[in-house]
Order: sequence, then C-alpha cells, then structure tokens
Amino acid sequence: MRRPKISLKKYFYFTIICALLLIFLYNFKERDVWKSKNSAQSSSSSLLQQQQQHHQQHLEPNPGEEYNEKYDDDDTDKPTDGENAKVTTTKTTHTESDQPDSEQHQYQQQPHSQQQQSQSSNVLQSPQQQQQQQQNPIASDNMEPLPRPWFFKNGDYYPKPAKIPKKRRGKKAHLQGSKLFPYQDPHSDRIVNQLMYVPTNYEEIKSSGKLKTILLYNGLGPWNVKAGRDVFLRSKCPVDTCTITASRDQANTADMILYKDHYIPTGIRRPANSRQVTMLYHLECPYHTQNVKVPDAVNWTATYRRDSDIVAPYEKWQYYDDRVRQQEQDRNYAANKTKKVAWFVSNCGARNGRLQFAHELGKYIDVDIYGACGNYKCSRVNADKCFEMLDRDYKFYLAFENSNCRDYITEKFFVNALNRNILPIVMGARPEDYEVSAPQRSYIHVDEFASASELADYLHILDNDEKLYNSYFNWKGTGEFINTYYWCRVCASLHDEESLKKPRWYTDVNDWWRGAGVCTNGSWRNFKARKDVITDD
Ligand SMILES: *[C@@H]1O[C@H](CO)[C@@H](O)[C@H](O)[C@H]1NC(C)=O
Ligand SMILES: *[C@@H]1O[C@H](CO)[C@@H](O)[C@H](O)[C@H]1NC(C)=O
Ligand SMILES: *[C@@H]1O[C@H](CO)[C@@H](O)[C@H](O)[C@H]1NC(C)=O
Repeated sequence: MRRPKISLKKYFYFTIICALLLIFLYNFKERDVWKSKNSAQSSSSSLLQQQQQHHQQHLEPNPGEEYNEKYDDDDTDKPTDGENAKVTTTKTTHTESDQPDSEQHQYQQQPHSQQQQSQSSNVLQSPQQQQQQQQNPIASDNMEPLPRPWFFKNGDYYPKPAKIPKKRRGKKAHLQGSKLFPYQDPHSDRIVNQLMYVPTNYEEIKSSGKLKTILLYNGLGPWNVKAGRDVFLRSKCPVDTCTITASRDQANTADMILYKDHYIPTGIRRPANSRQVTMLYHLECPYHTQNVKVPDAVNWTATYRRDSDIVAPYEKWQYYDDRVRQQEQDRNYAANKTKKVAWFVSNCGARNGRLQFAHELGKYIDVDIYGACGNYKCSRVNADKCFEMLDRDYKFYLAFENSNCRDYITEKFFVNALNRNILPIVMGARPEDYEVSAPQRSYIHVDEFASASELADYLHILDNDEKLYNSYFNWKGTGEFINTYYWCRVCASLHDEESLKKPRWYTDVNDWWRGAGVCTNGSWRNFKARKDVITDD
C-alpha cells in the first residue's frame, strides 16, 4: 500500500513543478525569443571585427581641396554677406558628405544584432530600448553580416516602417516614442534616431501621394537646394515624401516654414494651422546671428546645439559599435616628430582670449603660430602641404574656436585636427560638450588644467611618453564622421504625427539661443561664478 502513496506524492510534486515551469516559460517567452536570436547572432561577431578592420581604412585622413578653405581660421568672424554665402556652401557640402559625434543612445535604432547582443549581456534594459527593438524588427536575424546603417560610407541597412506588435496596439501604442525631439531624450542629439525613423503608416503615406511641404522663407539660394523632391530622392532618404518650395504664397498651407539665419515675419496670423511648424536654422554661434525678438515665433530650431530639435553639427562622429570605442593602432603617432605645438590662425582678436592663452602657453612649451598672428609662415596656396608638415613634425595642434559657447565645435577641431595625425588641444565649447561630441580620448581640453603652465607640464609629459601620447589615437578606426543628412531628418521629423499633436514652441528663442549660460568670454572653469550674458548683436 506504500507504493501508491509515494507515487501520489511524486505526482503532486510533478504537477507543481509543471505548473511553475509553465508560469516561468510564459513570463519569459519574450526574453527567450531574444535569446535564440542572440545565439544565432553571436557567431557573426567575428564578422563584426572583420568589418571594423575593413572600415579602418575609411577613416584615414583624406586630404583634399576642402582644407584649402578651412586653412583660414576666421571664417566665422564678422560674417559679411559674401562670407556667409561661402560658409553656406561648405555647410551644405558637408551635409551631403560627412559628419561626427558620439552618444550612448545613438545605436538604439540601429542594427538589431547589436541590440540583441547587448541584451544578453544586459538583462536590465530600459523600456525605450525594448520598444525600439520591437519597432524595428529585423528581417534577417540569421547568419548574415551585421548590417551597417545607410548613413555610414558603405552602409546599406535601411530602416523599415515600424510595425506596432498587435499586443502593443491600443492603450500602450502611444508609449512607443520615437525619440526624435529634445523633450523625449534630452541627453542625446537624436541624429541617428531621426535618420532611422520611418512612420508606421509610411506605405499608406507613400501610396496616397501626399507630400509635406517645406517653405524656405529666405529662398532657395542660401540653402543651395532645388525646389521639389530632388534633395530627398538624391539622398535616398528613408522618408522622402517631402517637397521644397520657395514661394511665399504657400505660407498658409506649408507644413513647415523654415528660416535660415534670418527670421522674417510672414505677415499671416501664425500659425496657419496648429500643426504648422516654424523652424529657425542657425549655422553660426550666438555672437554672429540675428536677435529674434518676436515672442512665440519659433516652434523648432536647427543648430549645432545638441538641444536643438534638428541638431546640425559641423561634423558628427559615430561609432560602428558603441561598445568598441578604442582599438590598438599599428603605427606610432609620435614617430619622427621633433616639434611641439602648432597653430594656424589668421584672426587675432577672438573674444575668448585664445591668442593670449597661446602666448601664455608659449612661455612653457614651444608654440609655433602660423599666419597673421604669429611669426611662422606657410603659404595658404599650399594648404595641403602645410597640413602634411603639421602631421609630420608636430605633436600638438591648438584647435581653438573663436568663441566659447555651448556645443560650439567646428571643423577647426574635426577636420583640421582629428582628421590628421596630430593631438588637438581644444578651447571653445564646454569640456562636457566635447566629451559627448568627440571620439573618446581624442583631444585635451584647456579647462582640464588650472593654467597654461599646468597644461604645458602635461604636454611635456606626453612629449616624453610615446605610449601615453599614442593612447590619444586609439579611437581611430572605431567609427566614422557621418553625413547627418539634414534634409532627410527634417522630412522624417515632420512625419512624426504623434509629436506634432503636442504643440511646442519657444516663448523666447533669443533667450534659449544666447541667454545666460550659453557663452562665456573666458574659461569655463570660472564660468559658474560669472554667468555672462551676450548683449552685443
Ligand atoms: C619616420 O622616418 C623614417 C625614416 O625617414 C620613415 O621610414 C618612417 O616611415 C617615418 N615614420 C613615420 C610614421 O612617418
Ligand atoms: C507652433 O507654435 C504655435 C504657437 O506660436 C502653436 O500654435 C502651434 O501649434 C505650434 N505648432 C506645432 C506643430 O507645435
Ligand atoms: C569678459 O567679460 C567681462 C565682463 O563680463 C569683462 O570684465 C572682461 O574684460 C571680458 N574679457 C575679455 C577678454 O573680453
């Protein structure tokens, strides 16, 4: 009579275990799906490495005509109309060629394989990451090479319209933020999110033939684009259902009224409708831009500032894999270099006192100043040769901006210095701005040191320690200065109907752009005490 007793007990335990297992399996169904995809993906991680090695060569500095214009350091000072036009062209070309920046959030909408990998190592994931994984389900999660997003040089991975999983429809659907705008993700520039955004109903939009109209209120000239859909089609934008016009009689109906540097009231009671967006673009820093005194006039901004709606940096650095930010280099960047610090500069009177700082630094370490403000000459006609000389002979380059303003980092840093083989010493934006925009350990900020003499002390240490000096180049090959496809992002953002439903505008755009805390005429180290306000126009 004992045997049935025991088997009953066993039966009891067996049932409980089965029930627990069922509950467990049900709860972890989603996670299991990711895990299985994951194991398939992990075998392709060697491909990732191969790809990285392959792409290393794309980051080699590519000297070209671009440098001719950029030799001159003072293009941003006192812009006349003519100079403005020149700047416009450089800006437009770089919009169509390459740009840089780095942020942890930027890979969120990127190839899923990467997300899946990080998911396994990181079970605790933010809800936003999970949402985005579901928004961009990958078509091929087998053994294929990692897709590289379309905005990289050899990238061919295009986003597909986000599908809302049935489960998520209804109540929770509104939680699926696309994080295109600053209020949705204040710590990121959201550039990659915007580049990878496709609205859920994009197929319908496309077949309906409806286009979003962008009215360039200052005309086509300043932008150097054609009317119509040309720029969106040519750029192969994931969202290209937009059209550009310059005819002001569409001010009533346009989906966006876009201003470049100069705001002109339309004379029409604005907004024409609650969904119309007025956007102000600024290329230059606050010292060189118009004061927009009309209140409530601007909905969105497009500037180099990271808290702009459409962030338009001078260059943007993007890692191939956000977790791989450093790699061994197979060359010695200190080899054969006999000189210390160099600087090419032609505008001597910048308001951040950069020339005085360079002279002060010169008391403690050799600083060779080329151009109008110094004793060294290198013919501008041979700008390429000058930069080659720089690369060959010098260890450090002063990449000093002419203004110390938040996020104001120009091609002086990205092109003149980072694209070469010389270590930049930077002055301009705040240290924390460089930290999020520049490749990791790629520069030295003057405000890391209490004085020019302390900075010089450290430069001497670097000068005598090749290993330490070379450690500032380990970012090379881990990413690219990407084209940020400005127009594609404007178009895509105009399609985020959920966000358009919530009216947003700047009550005082001038205060945002140049109010207290934006710029300083001295070091950021003393900034908190002083809080300069820009008063000059
Ligand atoms: C340094 O000079 C040597 C001899 O001129 C040359 O072979 C080598 O390539 C140079 N190294 C670099 C990094 O330029
Ligand atoms: C733009 O701002 C105006 C207020 O000036 C507002 O009425 C309108 O709804 C805003 N548009 C969007 C799309 O936020
Ligand atoms: C910076 O501004 C302060 C006052 O805001 C002024 O006293 C100082 O002279 C300025 N420095 C330079 C270098 O312009």
